[in-house]
Amino acid sequence: MHKTNKQTKCKHTLAVFKCLPCWTPPLTSFSLYICLFTLIFLVLSQSHHPILHEMALFLCLFFFLISSSSACDRCVHQTKVAYFSKASALSSGACGYGSLAVGFTGGYLAAAVPSLYNNGAGCGACFQMRCKNTTLCAKQGTKVIVTDLNQNNHTDFVLSSRAFRAMANKGMEQDILKLGLVNVEYKRIPCEYKNQNLAVRVEETSKKPNYLAVKFLYQGGQTEIVAVDVAQVGSSDWSFMSRNYGAVWDTDRVPAGALQFRMVVTSGYDGKWIWAQNVLPVDWKVGVVYDSGVQINDIAKEGCSPCDDGSWNSR
Ligand SMILES: *[C@@H]1O[C@H](CO)[C@@H](O)[C@H](O)[C@H]1NC(C)=O
Ligand SMILES: *[C@@H]1O[C@H](CO)[C@@H](O)[C@H](O)[C@H]1NC(C)=O
Repeated sequence: MHKTNKQTKCKHTLAVFKCLPCWTPPLTSFSLYICLFTLIFLVLSQSHHPILHEMALFLCLFFFLISSSSACDRCVHQTKVAYFSKASALSSGACGYGSLAVGFTGGYLAAAVPSLYNNGAGCGACFQMRCKNTTLCAKQGTKVIVTDLNQNNHTDFVLSSRAFRAMANKGMEQDILKLGLVNVEYKRIPCEYKNQNLAVRVEETSKKPNYLAVKFLYQGGQTEIVAVDVAQVGSSDWSFMSRNYGAVWDTDRVPAGALQFRMVVTSGYDGKWIWAQNVLPVDWKVGVVYDSGVQINDIAKEGCSPCDDGSWNSR
């Protein structure tokens, strides 16, 4: 029914999630035992106590709910997508990537609805999508990266016209543009940056000695950055940073000297720390992109049934 193969990877590194059990995934069968056990117990004890009955019902329901959707690397979702006629509409997107966005995945960009944009945590997430008309569209679809927020909730995504056209079969590009709106299925996929680490760009609003704003670029894997701390290299006196907007994090308590970062990213069923030990030099400058020396390749799970099998070579 579900796969528990990734179970050994389950690590509770994020404090908030410490109380969640590591054995959440194999619950499908486990929940049956729990239900049976409680019911048998109730029958044997011939209890007529209403609280016990409620507890049994609650336990059964609880475990059933947890186990009714499997934890997957990928789920396939259905929506419609439209496109922006101007490429510039996306490169000035809400994530704040600016003109850098065009360099990501060759200009295959997307604006995502608030639930996927997730207050900016969804910035830089990668998706594969294909339209459902097999005459019109290629079966492997196209891969896009989120650089903007789509306020209009009629479609989960609005794509750059380049990405929208790329869904079409050869010779059908004009036909798909003419339609303007197509039914698609899509799934989250890991972002892959060949020979490219996670990078930190110092924003123009930064001002020594107190204020630092950075944005994260080239975030690999299938994760979201949910917390960032900064400290002087070699120090354990960490200051937390806050998400200012989009992919931009800031703090007005900047440690002196060269700076290291640590981030909490969603991973597996919870989260994990990523530590970039030496990122900004003592004389960090605004507008410069610094290599973090690390890359993220974790996969954050989502719940659905059945899971996507990873191949889109057949319909
Ligand atoms: C699929 O697209 C082709 C070409 O645009 C169109 O002629 C056809 O009617 C479409 N099929 C469906 C089921 O929408
Ligand atoms: C879109 O948002 C509006 C207002 O926020 C809401 O009334 C409507 O039901 C939403 N539509 C969809 C398809 O979610």
